[in-house]
Amino acid sequence: MASPRPRSGILEIQPYVGGKASAEGADSTIKLSANESAIGPSPQAIKAIQQALGDSHRYPDGGSDRLKAAISKRFSLDIDRLICGSGSDELIHLLTLAYAGPGDEVLYSAHGFLMYRLSALGTGAQPIAAPERNLRTDVDALLDAVTSRTRLVYIANPNNPTGSYITADELSRLHRGLPDDVILAIDAAYAEYVHTPDYTNGLELIDQADNVVMLRTFSKLFALGGLRLGWLYGPPNIIEVLNRVRGPFNVNALAQAAGIAALEDLEHQERSVAHNDHWLPRMTQAIAGLGLTVHPSVANFLLVGFPETGEKTAAKAGDFLEKDGIVARPMAAYGLPNCLRLSIGKEDENKAVIKSLERFLES
Ligand SMILES: Cc1ncc(COP(=O)(O)O)c(C=O)c1O
Repeated sequence: MASPRPRSGILEIQPYVGGKASAEGADSTIKLSANESAIGPSPQAIKAIQQALGDSHRYPDGGSDRLKAAISKRFSLDIDRLICGSGSDELIHLLTLAYAGPGDEVLYSAHGFLMYRLSALGTGAQPIAAPERNLRTDVDALLDAVTSRTRLVYIANPNNPTGSYITADELSRLHRGLPDDVILAIDAAYAEYVHTPDYTNGLELIDQADNVVMLRTFSKLFALGGLRLGWLYGPPNIIEVLNRVRGPFNVNALAQAAGIAALEDLEHQERSVAHNDHWLPRMTQAIAGLGLTVHPSVANFLLVGFPETGEKTAAKAGDFLEKDGIVARPMAAYGLPNCLRLSIGKEDENKAVIKSLERFLES
């Protein structure tokens, strides 16, 4: 008997497995598996959620207009070039859905964020991964991989899970090398953590071209991952298309209220960045000091390399950490089975990581 079959590509999707939320067998969990902010959401955002709860029977503002106004004010952006989504994941899906389909190609860097590949498969397009150089996006390799079928190029800058970034010059060179009808989607989920002067979130490219968009999220610095909130800034033609394909109420009311309040709490944002500025170099140094490979990161997480064989592999380290209540992210799904990814945590969490890794390496 015939049974319903999904479109081609769908069965190639390995459902996304997020960072584990709890350590099995441990009394408590230190969750460092999803690049979440160590210090949690703004108290103002929590208050705004509580205030909005009573109106939960009302549909949300369908266009997220107040939220877009707050984003526009906070980042000095043109409100007509903004669209909000239920996490930047939704916006990645919508963008791929609107611009790519069967017969098209969606290009990204080999260890680029997993959602680019998943969104391509979901729309029936062919995902194409360009090789990297030393776990860094390689602009030449991306440009070499462009064909007449390429519709979208996704680049996470900085990239998750490698923590590396490409410079403003490299990004601009990538854009210059793309045909005008190919969209360059710059996913700047971790932009707020980067301070190096040669970095850009890509805004200046968007102002000059009709084929560049920037994706941002409230899940990292703003610590609202549980509410699902992201936004995209791009040329009006692309915003108009995305407004056609999004759900009429795609961002829930609590997320909108929390986002507006979080944007206004500049002090909390500064505290969150300062926490990362303090701990990122310290954790890098401490883990490298144990003899492990720490890939240089400009974001709020570290990719740590372990020996390929023997008793000190990444898998064994992950199990050991978990027994101590620490949940890291295994990296096999990203093609990096010898690595674990660890978010920067609170002070006591970071110290617990170092202690546990020390005991693991001595055991
Ligand atoms: C590069 C990158 N883009 C997008 C996302 C997804 O963000 P959101 O929670 O807004 O869907 C993540 C989350 O880990 C990420 O690392």
